[in-house]
Amino acid sequence: MTPIPDDLIRHLQQVRHLVIFTGAGVSAESGIPTFRDAQTGLWAKYRPEQLASPEGFHADPQTVWDWYAWRREKCLAAEPNAAHLAIAELERRLPRVTLITQNVDGLHQRAGSSAPLELHGNIHHLKCFACRRDGGDWPDDVRTIPRCRCGGRMRPAVVWFGESLPETVLGAAAEASQHTDLFLSIGTSSLVYPAAELPFLAKRHGAFVVEINPQPTPLSARADLCLQGAAGEVMAALLATNT
Ligand code: OAD
Repeated sequence: MTPIPDDLIRHLQQVRHLVIFTGAGVSAESGIPTFRDAQTGLWAKYRPEQLASPEGFHADPQTVWDWYAWRREKCLAAEPNAAHLAIAELERRLPRVTLITQNVDGLHQRAGSSAPLELHGNIHHLKCFACRRDGGDWPDDVRTIPRCRCGGRMRPAVVWFGESLPETVLGAAAEASQHTDLFLSIGTSSLVYPAAELPFLAKRHGAFVVEINPQPTPLSARADLCLQGAAGEVMAALLATNT
């Protein structure tokens, strides 16, 4: 079991508002590929701009749609892991917790987290590529791209390269990050802005910032504590200290 430093145990026991910020590394132990891990990362096989961008969808909607159908199948087949479950349990135990995720896989909700701020959307929802109207859920026949009543094609309701994040969600995440005393950044390479700014924002506003990641990232030098380990193992150990 990962040893948890005493100052983190103390911070967790005294925390007034805990903010948890997650990236693809939190879902890695559920078998969902991350983006930038060279050997397994999604980007290792594809150029991201081709598949996760409006231009890519406009140029070849079926390929982009099929790639997201494949990713969604992996998400549906995956189970929340110990990290997702520990996060949901901390939400139940502590006075105030804000969960902010870059992930689109829906595993935080399936683990019991009630209202994660999904900065990059949710792969299980659709919206119209043309009029942006909400497109509901995926059709049973996932090979066929559904059409909106405006005639436009449906697309996954996720944020693509070159697109802005949902304003209200990002605003709520920034607000929470400016009013927290303990900020956990878990399983993210801290490379993609504006999401990656959040732990630095929290730090500037006086939070104790902890990074949980087997690898160092651009946040590591600014974090108050870096726990180099797998999210499932570290979060289970952290939860066990919070009796
Ligand atoms: P990345 O793939 O960039 O980074 C995953 C991070 O998780 C890396 O730093 C790994 O070291 C770490 N990691 C791997 N396994 C882990 C484990 N078991 N426990 C903890 N950490 C682990 O994924 P993100 O940082 O989430 O954006 O990427 C951010 C955004 O870039 C994504 O949301 C996506 C992508 O473009 C959009 O789709 C808009």
